[in-house]
Amino acid sequence: MKMKLLHGIAAAALALGAGTAMADEDAELVINGDLEIVTKTDAPAHLEGAVGEIMSGWRFRDSTTQVMQMDDFDNPGMIFVDDARDMWATAEGSEGKSCMDCHGEPEDMAGVKPVYPKWNEAAGEVRTLQMQMNDCRENRMGAETWKYDAGDAVAMEALLASVSRGMPVNVATDGPGQSTWEQGKELYYTRTGQLDLSCASCHELNYGNMIRADHLSQGQVNGFPTYRLKNTKLNGIHSRFKGCVRDTRAETFSAGSPEFVALEMYVASRGNGLSVEGPSVRN
Ligand code: HEC
Ligand code: HEC
Repeated sequence: MKMKLLHGIAAAALALGAGTAMADEDAELVINGDLEIVTKTDAPAHLEGAVGEIMSGWRFRDSTTQVMQMDDFDNPGMIFVDDARDMWATAEGSEGKSCMDCHGEPEDMAGVKPVYPKWNEAAGEVRTLQMQMNDCRENRMGAETWKYDAGDAVAMEALLASVSRGMPVNVATDGPGQSTWEQGKELYYTRTGQLDLSCASCHELNYGNMIRADHLSQGQVNGFPTYRLKNTKLNGIHSRFKGCVRDTRAETFSAGSPEFVALEMYVASRGNGLSVEGPSVRN
């Protein structure tokens, strides 16, 4: 996305236009002919007054991109999932253990992805899936941790998402992780950068509109990790956040930072009720 034309323009005068016929917002997503994905549903209660209906970013993509996600053979993200299946079964580190030795088949992890980020009692912190995977690598396998949002970590996250596809996102907004969630909410609504924009300026107040050539979605994360046609690789949530923050001409946080962990938790909970969809395909 190029924001050059917006530079110096007041936020209220953002170059937004009415949605064109680029995307099929009424299309329904069924994967491999039988896996039904909820891409549009009533917003969770915590969004009352802000958003009535929540929609997956899939609905905002053009039909060529949409179709790629309807069959696993056409979804380039699935190649990374296959790689991760091999990693899952490979012993690593000083303990000589693989993920499989402790967790069984990847399919046994169905239901894990929908509730992340989640509070970890023993650690006394909210953890993203990648943080949890690295905790296992470091403390249970004696293996090196994976770089946040880099190849191996995102591929493994995609594998864990893929076995939960079709299950509803269900991230806790209360309980011991609530203060982290509140911090994420604050970040979501805080205007930053030279353009003085918040996440909400684009993804809550202007979804459905065009921002230059891009059809603005609600900025949901139920489809992550996402294979992007733009960079032909799997992309993690925090990398996407970084790109969006940069577009407002603000200083951004790094992948894996406490700020982005909190923001991920909050944004994920805005999608409570949508299906897990990763790995998705986006432009
Ligand atoms: C030696 C055993 C062991 C190995 C090897 C191991 N884990 Fe774990 N893993 C655990 C235990 C025990 C827990 C629960 C710990 C906790 O809640 O803090 C866990 C928790 C998890 C969870 C969170 C599950 C949930 O319900 O929230 C994920 C995801 C995970 N592991 C992924 C992995 C991946 C990916 C690998 C391989 C890179 C791996 N683990 C390797 C023992 C292991
Ligand atoms: C200037 C407008 C703008 C702002 C501000 C903005 N974004 Fe975005 N964002 C976009 C555009 C354009 C895209 C690509 C089209 C789409 O999916 O909406 C995008 C995409 C996304 C996606 C990918 C959605 C998908 O389904 O693949 C996420 C997640 C996201 N943004 C989150 C955020 C968060 C969190 C913030 C605040 C830190 C933010 N964005 C701020 C414009 C913006």
